Amino acid sequence: MNFLELLNRTGLIGAHRGARYIAPENTMRSLKVSVGFCDFIEIDVQLSSDGTLIVIHDDTLERTTNVAEIDEFKSRKPYKVSDFSFKELSSLDYGSWFDGHVEPLLTLSETLQFIKENALFLNIEIKDMHTFFSDGQVVSAVLKEIQDWQVQNKVLISSFRHEYLSLCKERLPDVPTAALVQEKHTENLLEYLKTLKVDACNMSNELADKENVSNMRKAGYGVNVYTVNEKTRAKELFEMGVNGIFTDNLDLFSNIKI
Ligand code: G3P
Ligand code: CA
Repeated sequence: MNFLELLNRTGLIGAHRGARYIAPENTMRSLKVSVGFCDFIEIDVQLSSDGTLIVIHDDTLERTTNVAEIDEFKSRKPYKVSDFSFKELSSLDYGSWFDGHVEPLLTLSETLQFIKENALFLNIEIKDMHTFFSDGQVVSAVLKEIQDWQVQNKVLISSFRHEYLSLCKERLPDVPTAALVQEKHTENLLEYLKTLKVDACNMSNELADKENVSNMRKAGYGVNVYTVNEKTRAKELFEMGVNGIFTDNLDLFSNIKI
């Protein structure tokens, strides 16, 4: 089964940034904890200054690393991810901010190896990096990793920067894509999605109502909703026909044990 076939189902639970209420987000620990308790995992990727794809959400390092405590980086505020080389990023701790346990940097490559070895589905969200890197450079880097690991049938690529999605489709049409949309969206969303040639729409919880969801589903788009941390809301969404939800709180939807 590939990710598109998975999106024919409903009731799917996506581990948002891994099991981020249980382990530090976007780390190998947060991926490992999710296994067996979700239908797919979601991660965020960005490029280091020298072109390695790393797994991290914010465009700065302060919230989820120990960068501010390292003397040699004191002058590098606001600690933009795109200003740091892979070697520098590798020297940081990505876990102590969460629960005091050191956790190394996670790369996209390591993530793809992990999902391949464990037969998992992965939603790769490409963060908007257009101020630092060309769209072509970003998309080439992501697609190269997917091809290198031969995981075309295990991934869904999403982004708020929709230019990336059109480029992905042009270059690797077999890999499914999802447009991330939030409150402010184009008047005619369906027509717009068609122009992007995406397969799915990952929409914000605020945007997901009966009409929007039913229109998308009828037009053949997969619909996933972020971020849903309440069981009653998840039930409501699935009844509308939503395929999957992203949750921070895997605990709510399974008997996860750590
Ligand atoms: O992909 C869904 C969701 O992750 C988008 O928002 O800010 O949590 O990356 P964010
Ligand atoms: Ca994300």
